[in-house]
Amino acid sequence: MDNNKRPADMQRINTPALAKAFIAEQVEQIQAQVGDKKVLLALSGGVDSSVVAALLIKAIGRQLVCVHVNHGLMRKGESEQVIEVFRNQMDANLIYVDATDRFLDLLAGVDEPEKKRKIIGGEFIKVFEEEARKLEGIKFLAQGTIYPDILESDGVKAHHNVGGLPEDLNFELVEPVRLLFKDEVRQVGRALGLPVSMVERQPFPGPGLGVRCLGAITRERLAALRESDAILREEIAATGMNIWQFFTVVPDFRSTGVRDGKRAFDWPVIIRAVNTVDAMTATVPEIPWAVLQRITSRILAEVPGVCRVLYDLTPKPVGTIEWE
Ligand code: XMP
Repeated sequence: MDNNKRPADMQRINTPALAKAFIAEQVEQIQAQVGDKKVLLALSGGVDSSVVAALLIKAIGRQLVCVHVNHGLMRKGESEQVIEVFRNQMDANLIYVDATDRFLDLLAGVDEPEKKRKIIGGEFIKVFEEEARKLEGIKFLAQGTIYPDILESDGVKAHHNVGGLPEDLNFELVEPVRLLFKDEVRQVGRALGLPVSMVERQPFPGPGLGVRCLGAITRERLAALRESDAILREEIAATGMNIWQFFTVVPDFRSTGVRDGKRAFDWPVIIRAVNTVDAMTATVPEIPWAVLQRITSRILAEVPGVCRVLYDLTPKPVGTIEWE
């Protein structure tokens, strides 16, 4: 039997009861596979790795060792939420690595998007490998591979998963949600008691804010990006609008402004919001004018170094969802 092929008669997990049945079955399978050995997991805080973590914690508790690498390119509050949910609420064995300086030092002056992606992906594996080598007695590596990853295998997520670890580490894989579609993973996450904000989280690129802080990343523009993005999220949440993905972008050019009667020369913030089914094509939602005005006023008042706010009206195609 091909373990990576979804059986034709496998039921779609679309109710809490089916999710509970799936969890019970997986807990048994994981316990049988792992025994009393330890399992390592790179926990980004995204939907897939979070659900795998919660499932493994249920099955084997502190035999699961989670490593959360903060590359300094997370959205505001996301690393904190990982620590709060997994370490404080679920008593997970969680290693938190703040690698912000390492990543930002390596990225300094690098303005080519593909180069930035390679640096972030490569350094992520390096940091994770270092942590893995410090630990003893790890036999298994858990991954949040889901069925579309197997079907597509187009590499979009390749650097996100830790498939690039050196072979001498010799891990056996544990991939409990590999036959599930995204909506099923979310259903399982809810049944495991994960917070809605985590289970419903928007897609977030592996290189994180790194591809939204355009050109060569600086700490100043990264801070403006993180703060403006947090304001956007707060304001969209307050409207109750259901938008597939939205975020801010900070380009690497400045424009003239006037603040307190004095000339300013500051960064623009671009708002990007899209609705899509599969991310292959996307449309731009009509955010009410009053909401856009409120977001604009708040960003201009609350985010230092920003003097202009724009809304990107470009559908995909021609524009991709991300700017880099
Ligand atoms: P684009 O920009 O290609 O994005 O229209 C389509 C979807 O993929 C996400 N995306 C990425 N995800 N690593 C990822 O894991 C990446 O390098 C990456 N680039 C884009 C993007 O956020 C959107 O949801």
